[in-house]
Amino acid sequence: MIRINENYLKLKASYLFADIAKRVTAYTAANPGKPIIRLGIGDVTEPLTPASIEAFHAGVAEMAVRSTFKGYGPEQGYAFLREAIATHDYAARGADIAADEIFVSDGSKCDCGNIQEIFATEGLKLAIPDPVYPVYVDTNVMAGRTGANLDGRYQGITYLDCTPANGYVPAIPSVATDLIYLCFPNNPTGAVATREQLVAWVAYAKANKAIILFDSAYEAYIRDPKIPHSIYEIPGARDVAIEFRSFSKTAGFTGTRCAYTVVPKSLMAYDDAGNAHSVHALWNRRHTTKFNGVSYPVQKAAAAIYTDAGKAQVKAMTDFYLGNAALIRAAMTKLGLSCVGGDNAPYIWINTGTDSWAFFDKLLNEAQVVCTPGAGFGKCGEGHVRISAFNSRENVETALARIAATLK
Ligand code: MLT
Repeated sequence: MIRINENYLKLKASYLFADIAKRVTAYTAANPGKPIIRLGIGDVTEPLTPASIEAFHAGVAEMAVRSTFKGYGPEQGYAFLREAIATHDYAARGADIAADEIFVSDGSKCDCGNIQEIFATEGLKLAIPDPVYPVYVDTNVMAGRTGANLDGRYQGITYLDCTPANGYVPAIPSVATDLIYLCFPNNPTGAVATREQLVAWVAYAKANKAIILFDSAYEAYIRDPKIPHSIYEIPGARDVAIEFRSFSKTAGFTGTRCAYTVVPKSLMAYDDAGNAHSVHALWNRRHTTKFNGVSYPVQKAAAAIYTDAGKAQVKAMTDFYLGNAALIRAAMTKLGLSCVGGDNAPYIWINTGTDSWAFFDKLLNEAQVVCTPGAGFGKCGEGHVRISAFNSRENVETALARIAATLK
């Protein structure tokens, strides 16, 4: 008799954004004359930049000619892209990351979800913020690292509460943990971590022989020059952290798919006997076994964001979304709602103080605007909703007018 992985039975029936999509589809079917504006899932709306499109076309043209055609590429990514990343995202910020410590992939969601596979299941102590991008929790539940979900929280996880009291930046836990998930600029709250806060996390990880999984998918939205873009800007982080980056929100690649994960060669994890093993070697083994690389034209398109023209175009694109974010934040504040985020991140986290799914339903039914209910990101997300800045200016302005009419 074929048996299932019973850990899946501990999960909520569907993934947060699938749940929301189901409600929106049902509403649209019942109300065909009422157009919806989507400020829920963080999906980009602006086209790829001219630099990326030109490189994408050039890559496709090379695939059409025998002499430049390419079959399987290196699983870890082409050298031209890995070298551009090492130079522009790391060396330029004083971070010591080599090109061969970078693994190009088809998305940070997959990488954040897959990375846990190379660590122990039994006895591994997890630290996960709340609210949080649900992938971190759900993939650990699937792997069997948690107990049941009791009252909205899985047993076996040290939750790091992010609340108005701590500015939505979690405190270091008072207990030892082994695998720590951090995301800055944060999804869903848009909060950022200061250098001092990251220094403290690196020291904690070092003291506990732990590893930090640092998701910086939204770093391109940082405008405050004092805020680190990478955990590797912190001395010693090479020995305790893996970093996830994505071209999705940086350069509009949500539909094109390209991201990367940095696993420094100095990062170690331990077997039962306490012997150190290279995490880079383990991830390389996993990556080469289960992944065949991102397509050549897509990697060409990604590399183009590091040219002078590409940099300027990507900055203009992220500035545009931050302009939306500023409008959203100002409109919410005018309605008397307190909010964070939106200044160094494309998300605005609004403290409504009310049931977050009820607030979601109200905006959907009365304003035809989709947001994301905070409860979907964890227990501490209750009483909040997230509004995404990813949409056209016209749609954002229309949505804000509709929300104002609904809430006034
Ligand atoms: C979100 O809305 O939280 C993100 O779009 C999800 C993702 O990047 O997978």
